[in-house]
Amino acid sequence: MLASGSGTNLQALIDTAEVRAHITMVVSDRPDAAALTRAEEADIPRRVVQFADHLDREAFSATLADVVEDSGAKGVVLAGFMRVLSPVFVDRFPGRILNIHPSLLPAFSGARAVEAALAAGVEVTGVTVHFVDYQVDQGPIVAQVEVPIVEGDDPGTLHRRIQEVEHLLYPELVKAFVKGDLYLDGARVVGP
Ligand code: GRF
Repeated sequence: MLASGSGTNLQALIDTAEVRAHITMVVSDRPDAAALTRAEEADIPRRVVQFADHLDREAFSATLADVVEDSGAKGVVLAGFMRVLSPVFVDRFPGRILNIHPSLLPAFSGARAVEAALAAGVEVTGVTVHFVDYQVDQGPIVAQVEVPIVEGDDPGTLHRRIQEVEHLLYPELVKAFVKGDLYLDGARVVGP
């Protein structure tokens, strides 16, 4: 599992026994990530790989891939990981990287998806789970769930409602992923 932030999705995954049993390690690019504390409380091995310790994104991605591979993991689940992974990383785990994004992709890709949906004035946004490929937030889509934007929403209230959906959706899909019931066949998603 790769995580940079508060780790609420990571927590939902840790709390799912069938997923927890398969987590080899939590890796973060931020030593202060609350996600690391959650991993520690669950007795899961942890590593920090900082971008600043590397020459460029390729070198960072290569270290990250080594750390993941050395943990024994065969697949990677991104849970609020805020760094772009270069093909150097993606090629090491082809079709075996899952991500969750707080919008209905392809709408509002990028780091500030919740703010962007509000600024655009749309009535509905949501959550997307997808496989990761070379293009940021553009890999094959596994599932999407809508979240309506309501009168008076600000980024905080909207993101909280989005995360409630994430915490139900991601564990179910990651459960299928670790069981081998969710995978990529070429560009085609084969799911439960
Ligand atoms: C989530 O909303 C996820 O969609 C996005 O980053 C956020 C991470 O939140 N990729 P958390 O760290 O899981 O609480």
